Amino acid sequence: MPQVKVALIGVGNCASSFLQGIQYYSKFQKPEDCIGLRNPVLAGQTPKDIQVVAAFDVDERKVGLDLAEAIFAKPNNAPKVCDVPSTGVIVNKGPLLDGVGKSTESIIKVSATPDSDVAKILKETGAQIMVNLLPSGAAKASQWYAERALSAGCAFVNATPNFIASDAAWAKRFMDANLPLVGDDLVDQVGSTALHKTLLKLLSDNGVRINETYQLDVGGGAESVDTLDRTRDAKRAIKTQSVASSLPYKAEVVAGSTDYVDFLQNKRDSYFWISGVYFCDTPMKIDLKFQTVDAPNAGSVLFDVVRALKVALNKKQAGSVIPICAYAFKRPPQIMSLQAAEAEFAKFLA
Ligand SMILES: NC(=O)c1ccc[n+]([C@@H]2O[C@H](COP(=O)([O-])OP(=O)(O)OC[C@H]3O[C@@H](n4cnc5c(N)ncnc54)[C@H](O)[C@@H]3O)[C@@H](O)[C@H]2O)c1
Repeated sequence: MPQVKVALIGVGNCASSFLQGIQYYSKFQKPEDCIGLRNPVLAGQTPKDIQVVAAFDVDERKVGLDLAEAIFAKPNNAPKVCDVPSTGVIVNKGPLLDGVGKSTESIIKVSATPDSDVAKILKETGAQIMVNLLPSGAAKASQWYAERALSAGCAFVNATPNFIASDAAWAKRFMDANLPLVGDDLVDQVGSTALHKTLLKLLSDNGVRINETYQLDVGGGAESVDTLDRTRDAKRAIKTQSVASSLPYKAEVVAGSTDYVDFLQNKRDSYFWISGVYFCDTPMKIDLKFQTVDAPNAGSVLFDVVRALKVALNKKQAGSVIPICAYAFKRPPQIMSLQAAEAEFAKFLA
């Protein structure tokens, strides 16, 4: 299959890990050497088959730079795992719209460069898939870029928690334009939501009655500040609904992001509490913490998403592609169990 050509919207931490990941894994010839990837080869494509052809941001420390340099510019704090050679892709200035919130005003330095013609650049570079990696509070900007994807004939990946793939009106617009759309809110490879759901399912399958459970986390990337400011409630609703769906009965469930701790850098601490009863009303409790780094947590799933979308493009699928949405996003148009989502995704690729 020819290379899949991607445009990145937002050159933040996730974009940094994504691009570094392409470079990092391109040195391995054998799939079994690609440690850390769920699917070294997916539908015949390796990470080497992913080519970033365009990128857009608003920060003066990134706009005008080669993407290989821009990914390491402040305020990005995703870990550096490898040098990335010059890509020839210059970061273009996108329109700001609601890209900066009250809390990120002091973090993002908006460039004075005039806005570029996004749709024209997408067409000229031959971008096939637009990946929306804007801050989670950038609802209007996310929709603005989705419009440009429609005008330029690009498939659209919404990694943000804004409702696009799960919104029937947007799904119809992509359907009418014969373009595939996936989202919303990317799942993590080592995700607290998936871990929480798996633990609850394991316990309830074994006859444990869960009474109360929460999962809360703190992080240190710019995205954690934006979440606090603008999307805390929406994220909490998405995560809580997703976690609650793993129990066959109603229980007290809370799941969401809670706070920003700057010295954590791009790390995230996730806390889990589960309380229930088993045989003869005997109480059980789980009190657990795990630590991950945010941006690399998006890499493997994003690799799967863009390669699966290439399959969707080849199959001429249009509108929200349910099997990809259910497999790779926290808020798909149809919420499924983890097992059902995996099965649908495998069936789609087969
Ligand atoms: N593991 C993960 O990190 C993960 C998982 C699920 C979802 N997501 C989502 O992915 C998105 C990106 O996360 P991140 O950590 O890379 O965020 P980030 O804050 O590091 O990056 C966002 C980038 O967007 C740029 N930007 C702001 N407004 C813009 C505009 N109007 N046009 C173009 N660029 C603009 C910023 O300058 C910044 O470079 C978030 O919405 C987040 O919720 C991330």
